Amino acid sequence: MLRVGYPAVLQDAALLRDFPADVEMVPLADGLDQIMEIDVWIPDPYPTRALRIWPWLRGVRLVLSLMAGTEWIPGTVGQHVTICNGRGAHNISTAEWTVSAMLALLKHLPLFLDVQRTGVWKRRFEASKEYVSVTGDHRPLYPPVMVEELTGKRVLLVGHGAIGKEIERMLEPFHVEMTRVARTARKDPDVHAVSELDSLLPKAEVVVLILPAQEDTRGLIGRRQLELMPQGALLVNAARGPIVDTDALVEALHSGRIRAALDVTEPEPLPDGHPLWSCPNLLITPHVAGSSPMFARRAMGVAAGELRRYLEGKALQNAVQLAV
Ligand SMILES: NC(=O)c1ccc[n+]([C@@H]2O[C@H](COP(=O)([O-])OP(=O)(O)OC[C@H]3O[C@@H](n4cnc5c(N)ncnc54)[C@H](OP(=O)(O)O)[C@@H]3O)[C@@H](O)[C@H]2O)c1
Repeated sequence: MLRVGYPAVLQDAALLRDFPADVEMVPLADGLDQIMEIDVWIPDPYPTRALRIWPWLRGVRLVLSLMAGTEWIPGTVGQHVTICNGRGAHNISTAEWTVSAMLALLKHLPLFLDVQRTGVWKRRFEASKEYVSVTGDHRPLYPPVMVEELTGKRVLLVGHGAIGKEIERMLEPFHVEMTRVARTARKDPDVHAVSELDSLLPKAEVVVLILPAQEDTRGLIGRRQLELMPQGALLVNAARGPIVDTDALVEALHSGRIRAALDVTEPEPLPDGHPLWSCPNLLITPHVAGSSPMFARRAMGVAAGELRRYLEGKALQNAVQLAV
């Protein structure tokens, strides 16, 4: 019988119900300290925990990651193992985070939370100053601007995969002007090739990054790209830290040219005292976008579906590496 090792912390009938009845589900405790023979490995979502378990595993030929990003897996398990990611499991929570982050910055919520904590109503006028300084909009607007609008904004979506499409769907009620970028250009809907990125940045009011971290995306948003973004543009990174050049971002934020919302950083975890922590016009969340109460259920559902396809000899939907 095929043995499927999975994190013992997910030992719950509701999470296991989609797996085929004719496989043996083997819970792998975090403190595993004996050799385990399994055929399929569902690693803990936290790489540090998964890496503690890996030396004890034997016989693994298929890895079903619960996460979309699988950067650490190929180098760990080698090329004789097929690896599938958890593509699809994070769509809703990560897309919701992205829309929330856009709204939070445009509604100046980080400032208003500060105001609430100090309990000084008059400080709300700081939002007007923040608006003028970051957007460069010096028109004598009356009443003073306290919040901005997402509706109608020009959004540049860099990455139009599972999560990118969900972000676009969630943005529909805001009637944004959407420009899409992916690896390759295509029609229906119009998607630009990443080679066109620099020519698209100057028009973008919001730039959303939702693409994988890999060799060719490292530093995709560097000093030049940040300079190409218009005054006051908002950069939202829901993808992976290395896609943005951190030093260039710190400079751009301090110069007051742009604002940003990051769920991911480089380095990660962001060390105490790192310059990013104290940048103006920045919202940081510590890599939480995918971690909703629905995550485990969706991710185990995705893994179960992929395992069924594997057993039936059907094409895998989420393969990021096929065993050689
Ligand atoms: N913050 C979080 O908690 C969180 C949660 C989940 C995922 N993520 C991150 O989000 C990423 C995207 O997830 P997904 O499920 O949407 O992945 P996906 O379905 O595989 O889509 C990836 C998209 O990125 C594009 N892409 C790949 N390489 C590119 C390149 N070199 N230049 C430009 N575009 C490129 C792809 O282009 P094509 O369409 O042309 O192939 C595709 O549109 C993941 O890799 C992960 O790092 C973060």
